[in-house]
Amino acid sequence: MTVDDRQGFTELLKSREILICVGSGGVGKTTTSAVIGLQAALAGLRVLVLTIDPARRLANSLGIDAIGSERQQIELEQFQEIGLEPEGEMWAMMLDMKESFDRLVERDAPDEETCREILDNRFYHYFSTSLAGTQEYAASERLYDLYEEGRFDLIVLDTPPTTHAFDFLEAPKRLADAVSSRALQWLYKPGILSGTPGRGILSVGTSYVTRTLSKFTGGELLEELGVFLRTFSTLFEGFETRARSVQNLLSSDSTGFVVVTAPDTLTVEEALFFYDKLGSDALNVDGFVVNRVHPQWVDEPNLELAEEKLPGLLAELDEELDSAASESIDIQKLVDQLSENALQFQLRATQDSRSIEKMGRELPAAMPIGCVPYFNRDIHSLGGLDTARRELFVVDEKP
Ligand SMILES: Nc1ncnc2c1ncn2[C@@H]1O[C@H](COP(=O)(O)OP(=O)(O)O)[C@@H](O)[C@H]1O
Ligand SMILES: [Mg+2]
Repeated sequence: MTVDDRQGFTELLKSREILICVGSGGVGKTTTSAVIGLQAALAGLRVLVLTIDPARRLANSLGIDAIGSERQQIELEQFQEIGLEPEGEMWAMMLDMKESFDRLVERDAPDEETCREILDNRFYHYFSTSLAGTQEYAASERLYDLYEEGRFDLIVLDTPPTTHAFDFLEAPKRLADAVSSRALQWLYKPGILSGTPGRGILSVGTSYVTRTLSKFTGGELLEELGVFLRTFSTLFEGFETRARSVQNLLSSDSTGFVVVTAPDTLTVEEALFFYDKLGSDALNVDGFVVNRVHPQWVDEPNLELAEEKLPGLLAELDEELDSAASESIDIQKLVDQLSENALQFQLRATQDSRSIEKMGRELPAAMPIGCVPYFNRDIHSLGGLDTARRELFVVDEKP
C-alpha cells in the first residue's frame, strides 16, 4: 500500500497548537483524536484531548466517563501498565455541548438575576438548543478559552458525530452574523410571531416557535420575548467579538485540520469534499487518516505459491484425516469456506489500496496520508490506542 509521507504526521504535532479531527460520522474521529493525543504525550508535549462523544469504554479508560467532568490527566501508572513512559502529559476532557451555552451565559451575564432570567427564558431555551450551530459555537468558545489559558502545548479536538460537521467550524461566523443587529431585527417581524415561516433567526425552526408559542396568550408571549431581548442582548456584543476571535484562531496557523476517513470510495469522496471545503475557507489541512483499512495479509507471490502448493497439501491432509477415520469434519468444505473468506478479504484489501492510491493522486503530493488497519475489536483502552498509534506513526517506531 502506498502511503505518501507518514513522517508528516510526526511533524504536524510540533507545528500546531490545535489539531481538529474532522470527517463523516463513525469513521473514527474520536479514536483518532485520542491516538494523536497519545503520540503527542509520548513525544513530550502536554496535550489535551477534547472529545465530544467517546464510546463509553474509551471514556472509562481515559477517566472522563462522568458527564460534565473536568479535564483529567491520564495517570502515569496507566501508561506504565502497557509499557509506555510518556515524557509529556496526556489530559482528556469530554465537551458537553448542551451545557456549554449555559456556561457562556453564566460567565457573561452582568449579574446573578439576569443570568437566571436568561436561563429560564423559553426563547433562550429555543435559541440555545434548536438553532443550528449554537451548541457547536459554545463548544468552539470552550476550545478558545482552553487555548487562551495556555496550559497545553497542543489541544486535539474531536468534532461532533453529526453529518453536519461544518456546523462546528461555521458556528462562530454564523452566530456572529445572527446576533448582528440586522439579523436581530427579524425578531420583530410580524411573520414570526404569527407563525408564518420567515427567514429570521427564530424562524429557523418556526414549527417549534409556533407550537410553543401557541400555548401562550399574545400578552405572555410578548412579555417573554421582551425579557429575552432585553436580557440576552446584553450578551450579544461579547458574542460577536469573541465569535470573530474564535473564527480567527481556527483559520490561523496555530490550527491544523486532520481529515479522517474510511477507505471505501464513497467515504473517500466525502473526505475529499471536506478537504476542498476546508481549503476554500483558507483553513490548514495537515493530513489524512484512513481508518479501518483491510490489510493485505498475503503478498501476490505468496498467493501464487499457495495456489500452486495448496491442492497437494490438501490431498495429503485429506488422506491423513481419512486414515484417522475422522468423518465428523468435512475438511473440503471447511477449506472451501476459508478460502472463499480469504478471497473476499483480499478483494477488500485490494479495493482499499486502490481507493487510497486514488485519493493520494487527487491530493497534493506532500499531503501526509496515514493508515490504521481494521482491528478485530473496538479500540477502547489505552493499549488499543497505542496499537493504532504504532500504525499511524509507524516511522517513529523504526530504530
Ligand atoms: N481501526 C479500527 N478498527 C476497529 N475498530 C475501530 C477502529 N477505529 C475505530 N473503531 C471503533 O469504531 C467505533 C467508532 O469510532 P469513533 O472513533 O467513535 O468514530 P467517530 O468519532 O468518527 O464517530 C468505536 O467503537 C471505535 O472503537
Ligand atoms: Mg466521535
